Amino acid sequence: MQALIEELESRVSEVMSELAGERVSAMVKLSQNIKFGDYQVNGVMSLAKKLGMNPRQLADKIVVKCDLSDMCEPAEIAGPGFINLRLRSDWLTKQLQKAIYDTERLGVDIVPVSGRTVVDFSGPNLAKEMHVGHLRSTIIGDVLSRVLEFLCGDSDKVVRQNHVGDWGLQFGMLVAYIRETEPDSFADPSVLRVWDLEQFYKNAKKRFDENEEFKQFCYKCTVMLHEKDAATMAVWRAVLGESRRHCKVIYDRLMVNLNESNEKGESTYCDDLPDVIADLAKAGMITESDGAQCVFMPGYNTAEGEPLPLIVQKSDGAFLYATTDLAAVRYRVSKLGASRVIYVTDSRQKLHFQMVFDCASKAGWTGQARLEHVPFGSVLGEDNKPFKTRSGESVKLSALLDEAESRALAVVSQKNPELDAKTKQEIARVVGIGAVKYADLSNNLISDYVFSWDKMLAMEGNTAPYMQYAYARVQSIFRKALTEGKTITAGAAISLQEPAELALAKILVRYAETLSAVSRELRPHILTGYLFELAGEFSTFYNACPVLKAQEPVCSSRLALCRLTADTLKHGLSMLGIETIEQM
Ligand code: ARG
Repeated sequence: MQALIEELESRVSEVMSELAGERVSAMVKLSQNIKFGDYQVNGVMSLAKKLGMNPRQLADKIVVKCDLSDMCEPAEIAGPGFINLRLRSDWLTKQLQKAIYDTERLGVDIVPVSGRTVVDFSGPNLAKEMHVGHLRSTIIGDVLSRVLEFLCGDSDKVVRQNHVGDWGLQFGMLVAYIRETEPDSFADPSVLRVWDLEQFYKNAKKRFDENEEFKQFCYKCTVMLHEKDAATMAVWRAVLGESRRHCKVIYDRLMVNLNESNEKGESTYCDDLPDVIADLAKAGMITESDGAQCVFMPGYNTAEGEPLPLIVQKSDGAFLYATTDLAAVRYRVSKLGASRVIYVTDSRQKLHFQMVFDCASKAGWTGQARLEHVPFGSVLGEDNKPFKTRSGESVKLSALLDEAESRALAVVSQKNPELDAKTKQEIARVVGIGAVKYADLSNNLISDYVFSWDKMLAMEGNTAPYMQYAYARVQSIFRKALTEGKTITAGAAISLQEPAELALAKILVRYAETLSAVSRELRPHILTGYLFELAGEFSTFYNACPVLKAQEPVCSSRLALCRLTADTLKHGLSMLGIETIEQM
């Protein structure tokens, strides 16, 4: 199934472009009200204005010229010049029939892409444990990667890059602290045990803030790291190893596909940084300002109206976050063959990426590639302030996920006290982790959202438990069918008679265009919104149309609709990296 709305858009646009003598868009949108059909062509009025024509007459002309009779009922012209399109039920049936036994792709066509898409996400600072600030980038980036991968049908075309912080002062600090407090570990890093990375980091930071001599020593150790002093590097590697073990546990629990092969941290680019500066200088883009190497670009000013530079090297010779990002752009475009690079970070980095993209493009490093920043808002506590523990510290992800599971266990135990402990635990894991992810993904990316256990674990509303329950409920129909000796037979004919059947069919065929919209707009909540709507239409259908009690062939047709609904829910949730359970 091709993205339906895109098919309509391209067919109507073609006719309109012919009439216009230039490329114009039909602006096909989903209808707000099914009274007016399923899709609406909104672009007629502006074209009529351009051509100096009466919009309704133009709409007439378009309708006559544009043959959509294979997909749609005869088009209707409404209002000042809208064209309303209604899908034909025999066309719908054909699409569903195709999707229903295609368990792998649910009839969603592969959309080939030319270059690679790099998705830069998660990127925690490896000096500390992952905390709630890393949640959004990690799961949003994973979802975008999954959807892009699925649509192009080629996992080689989507490259996940974990741009971890592994090269800054924090590591100089940790190394300095180990040298001072654990000389044995410094001599032989294999005996190093970072029993609590977080505490370790805090101790080092405290000492850094309090003791000037230690502070200077930290700077020195950072320089030694950057000069690749062997003993310093060995300790650094040991700390990273420990940190990676922490991350891996979190990634596994969150079902996020990131492993060591995806890790291309800041240190990866350390040898390229002098070249980046040299090339910028060669291109005449560098200006020295107060001893620092800067790139000034039009359009960037400080609040005081002064030109705002992108600093690429400090006066002491140190390189910056931006320098590394410039090196990463070069690598991604030239070595990885990226035609699209997607950066998933919080919105506070918006300006940073704008400047990096601009600078990279002016330096000629971006080629044909499109660089996109996907900014997102913060996670807030119920007090509307940044989400913190009661003592005011950042919430560790490990603790957050533990709490999610234990709260979900309470919900499951209350709902299903008779289940055995192991089953309850497993359901709680799937529901708890799913709830945290879904709550995050279902928000409009750019807004902040309030982290609320009660809301995300609610069985009603646009939540993971509701979606998982909706799936389990459809599955229970099949269990019941089986006990009655009914199975859905391959090729069972689907017929759409009742309005609720039609409505369900119409949302089912929109799965491909939903994924396509996610990949274009890079907003996962388009998919959660779709799944929520699908679950709702299914409920309406199930209340209005008996399934197992219906006579054949209606029973088989409805079972087939149930099958495709369950498969779509499960598949959609899997795109979100959320598991389903058969029984809840
Ligand atoms: N380590 C960064 C941070 O914690 C995120 C990295 C984002 N990616 C990038 N290419 N800069 O903010």
